[in-house]
Amino acid sequence: MSITKICCIGAGYVGGPTMAVIAQKCPDIQVTVVDLNEERIAQWNNPDVEKIPIYEPGLSEIVANTRGKNLFFSTEVDKAIDEAQMIFISVNTPTKTYGSGKGMAADLKYIELCARQIARVAKNDKIVVEKSTLPVRTAEAIKSILDHTGNGVQFQILSNPEFLAEGTAVQDLLNPDRVLIGGDTTPEGEAAIQSLVNIYSNWVSKDKILTTNVWSSELSKLTANAFLAQRVSSINAISELCEKTGADVNEVARAIGMDSRIGPKFLKSSVGFGGSCFQKDILNLVYIAKTFGLREVADYWEQVILMNDHQKRRFANKIVQTLYNTVADKKICFLGWAFKKDTNDTRESAAIYVARDLVSEQANIAVFDPKVEEYQIQSDLDYLNVSERSKKRVTSYENPYDACHSAHAIAVLTEWDEFRDYDWQLIYKNMQKPAFIFDGRNLLDGKKLTEIGFVYKSIGS
Ligand code: UDX
Ligand code: ADP
Repeated sequence: MSITKICCIGAGYVGGPTMAVIAQKCPDIQVTVVDLNEERIAQWNNPDVEKIPIYEPGLSEIVANTRGKNLFFSTEVDKAIDEAQMIFISVNTPTKTYGSGKGMAADLKYIELCARQIARVAKNDKIVVEKSTLPVRTAEAIKSILDHTGNGVQFQILSNPEFLAEGTAVQDLLNPDRVLIGGDTTPEGEAAIQSLVNIYSNWVSKDKILTTNVWSSELSKLTANAFLAQRVSSINAISELCEKTGADVNEVARAIGMDSRIGPKFLKSSVGFGGSCFQKDILNLVYIAKTFGLREVADYWEQVILMNDHQKRRFANKIVQTLYNTVADKKICFLGWAFKKDTNDTRESAAIYVARDLVSEQANIAVFDPKVEEYQIQSDLDYLNVSERSKKRVTSYENPYDACHSAHAIAVLTEWDEFRDYDWQLIYKNMQKPAFIFDGRNLLDGKKLTEIGFVYKSIGS
């Protein structure tokens, strides 16, 4: 089938940037991104492209070039489904907070609602593409709903997992390491796969487009994220050992990364990984393994998360211990709240957990993040059930110098580049003495800061 109209359900971190790039690279295809959230769609349609709801380097330029030409944002979900030949499902799949699989399995209620909506609306054959990260065998569930509740039209389900990382989403989409497309091995399935291959071929070379069966594609996504997260937990485990032995984790990472079998990427020790994917995907993997009675497999992967939780707790404890075992009513400045640099996304950010632990010790926290707004910080604390009283201890600042002013300590939670360029002499001058820096990202120049007078402590050294 030659595709001329695409609909994407879900205008979030995945759907928005992915569709913007498809629209730019395929000017003959009309791409409509729909969402139930009217405010979010209004933000995507804001005439000032700098105010679109997702911050990603390079994204606003692409939206400026394509919006209103072949890229549209709308709340008319039924209309977009009806008109499209290919429908991407890109809705959120959070970890379940209730019932069976609580705290582990992915909550598929949004996916199921989409499937039912597509089944109700579709009057002709459609290709449905899973874009959201999903547990293995979700395609089967989608297919069952579509086939049993549809109007007798044919659906082909493809799995096309997204490997983009936030902060580099546009680059990852433009130059992917690979594009993975899973589908049925029937002639109809293969034709559907080919339709999607044709879309990506507009800018991705054929040897990077991998086609597999649906289950392999779904499981590959979970496995890729589990391996990446495992590397972070592995180096973080070593960071604790480094702190005890006098080894330096950066030196260890460099030394092992030069082994071509290990490779240098994803070996940066930190206060812990965050983001919407890693924890959720590993929990999914653990849940699936448990479902099949594979206890050792489940325990093996669960340890990656336990290590990550430990690292976040350990960082907060270290701050308390170093500040003479009490942070009560002390001002601690957080530089960064997002889960990584170059994004305004805060989902599962280590900062939230460290803040929760410190306010429970009655610290006052002054947050500065170049892209995260105060309401987001407060709602993240709600998510962790931090009490209203404790939440009042967390204040957001527009300016890093004010955030650091008269603080007892600074904690670096996100690796924003701009933190390196601050006037650290000035910051030091205005802080309580001794002035501590806890560098949760190994970002700053410890030697220079020590010369200024700071007591500098970074992860793993
Ligand atoms: C991840 C995957 O990389 C991506 O392929 C998938 O599609 C979605 O999940 P993302 O969550 O956006 O992407 O960010 P990523 O760059 O993977 O970082 C995840 C977390 O790990 C961040 O909190 C980051 O700071 C942390 N991290 C990463 C480290 O602590 N050390 C590292 O060496 C690398
Ligand atoms: P991701 O990081 O996976 O892109 P987000 O939470 O950023 O996740 O985006 C998912 C989007 O999907 C949200 O904007 C949400 O409103 C939207 N959404 C969820 N369910 C539906 C639905 N049934 N129809 C339309 N949009 C939906």
